Amino acid sequence: MVANKSAQTHRKEKTSSATIDSGRREIIVWDRLVRCFHWSLATTFFLNYFITEEGEAIHEWIGYTAISLICIRLIWGFIGNKNARFVNFLPSKLSIKHHIEELREGKLDPTAGHSPVGALMIFTLLGLIACLGVTGYMMENIDLFWGEEWLEDLHELIAHVTLIAVATHISAIFILQKWTGTELIRPMLSGKRRLEPLQDQRNS
Ligand code: HEM
Ligand code: HEM
Repeated sequence: MVANKSAQTHRKEKTSSATIDSGRREIIVWDRLVRCFHWSLATTFFLNYFITEEGEAIHEWIGYTAISLICIRLIWGFIGNKNARFVNFLPSKLSIKHHIEELREGKLDPTAGHSPVGALMIFTLLGLIACLGVTGYMMENIDLFWGEEWLEDLHELIAHVTLIAVATHISAIFILQKWTGTELIRPMLSGKRRLEPLQDQRNS
């Protein structure tokens, strides 16, 4: 029984971390659903902002795809893996303060998922894209709002604000990766983050 438990623990450790060349270790940060969700959502946003024409059916369908992706992610935020679950990255005043103090010293916990400030930006992005879906739906499907210019302007304004948020998100990722030496982009592609021996010791 004990031996069985230890074998199980060993197997679990093997799935979450693996030793690679010269003592460097890599850990799994983002599961496949989070990664597919991320790049699909980014694609829908870019397509609707830069490529499709307003009023085209394809613009609407891509918008609805974005909303469906967000719905799936919301469900996964409750039942998914540790780093995907919202309870594990809900920011608080204290966690934000602590995180900013650490950032000033160039530190970012490489074993963690979303940081508190990263989480704020993520909820903002999800909220803004959801608002695009809702205003788009209201324009197209609710008679009361048909042809209302203020709603069209609002939809367009939210799209521009989202673009600014996306640009901030992408810049922050590049800057933080350079500033703290923690891999951020690779884990969103492959799921895995390499830990330097130094970071490994600091966080063990
Ligand atoms: C329209 C474009 C984009 C949108 C709407 C977007 C949105 C998001 C969202 C919602 C998350 C949270 C993922 C989750 O927990 O499910 C996220 C995380 C992340 N995104 Fe993006 N993203 C965009 C573009 C990009 C690009 C181009 C990059 C690469 C440079 C990038 C890199 C990342 C990384 C590294 C994370 C994880 C951040 C962390 O470690 O806390 N994103 N993004
Ligand atoms: C990712 C989600 C979305 C993004 C990024 C987005 C972006 C935009 C942008 C930038 C415009 C202004 C285009 C221009 O003036 O050239 C626009 C217009 C429009 N969008 Fe969306 N949209 C999204 C979702 C939706 C959805 C779900 C619908 C409807 C079901 C919709 C319906 C429309 C319509 C009808 C217009 C034209 C409004 C007008 O006449 O001024 N959009 N959208």
